[in-house]
Amino acid sequence: MAFEREKENAAVAALEFVEDGMTIGLGTGSTAKFFVEALAEEVADGLMVKGVPTSEETRRLAESLGITLLPVEQVDRIHVTVDGADEVDGDAQLIKGGGAALLREKIIANASDLMIVIADPSKQVEVLGAFPLPVEVTPFGFTITAKKVYDALQAAGVNRPRIEVRTGGGNKPVITDGGNFILDCRCSVIPDVPKAAALLSTIPGVVEHGLFIGLARTVIIGSDDGASIFEY
Ligand code: 5RP
Repeated sequence: MAFEREKENAAVAALEFVEDGMTIGLGTGSTAKFFVEALAEEVADGLMVKGVPTSEETRRLAESLGITLLPVEQVDRIHVTVDGADEVDGDAQLIKGGGAALLREKIIANASDLMIVIADPSKQVEVLGAFPLPVEVTPFGFTITAKKVYDALQAAGVNRPRIEVRTGGGNKPVITDGGNFILDCRCSVIPDVPKAAALLSTIPGVVEHGLFIGLARTVIIGSDDGASIFEY
């Protein structure tokens, strides 16, 4: 797998933000997996933290590694969330949802005192949009919603987005942890990210979109021999 070392170095660097007694949002994806594994090693050495997973996949992983988890309904404070991203720009705006977990990821990030993004250098971009933007939609009416998503993206300056329902095994739609579909929107470039986010949020049938604005305040980019930390 590409950039494994860089991902792991970013994940390990995020441990310096973790303190005894914290409740920690646990992201989803291959980079976040490195963080959960590194955190589990600290827990095995005596660190006392509780985790709040952002997906069933992460819940299973964290449980299997011995991290105590809190049901989200019992959480009153999340001190820090550590998660990956599909793209991060120079203003710490993100595209997320490549792992179809964007809804829970956004709820948990938004509820956290601090969201830390951990990534390898391939995720850094000048302008968001090369990675297809995931938009989570209700199965009911999804073809209608997809047309509205197209219109919204065009109105935000995206030139002819190409929108597909994400499919998995047997060419069936991928079902998210929330029971929804994902529309992958190929934009090439998203020239006005706040406008795109605002317009997408107004569409009935859109449960959440993968544009994360103003959520990440720390971005850690791993390298071959360490990591660089950027604060926003
Ligand atoms: C899952 C996500 C992931 O954080 C994103 O897809 C990055 O994943 P990876 O670390 O495997 O590249 O948003 O919904």
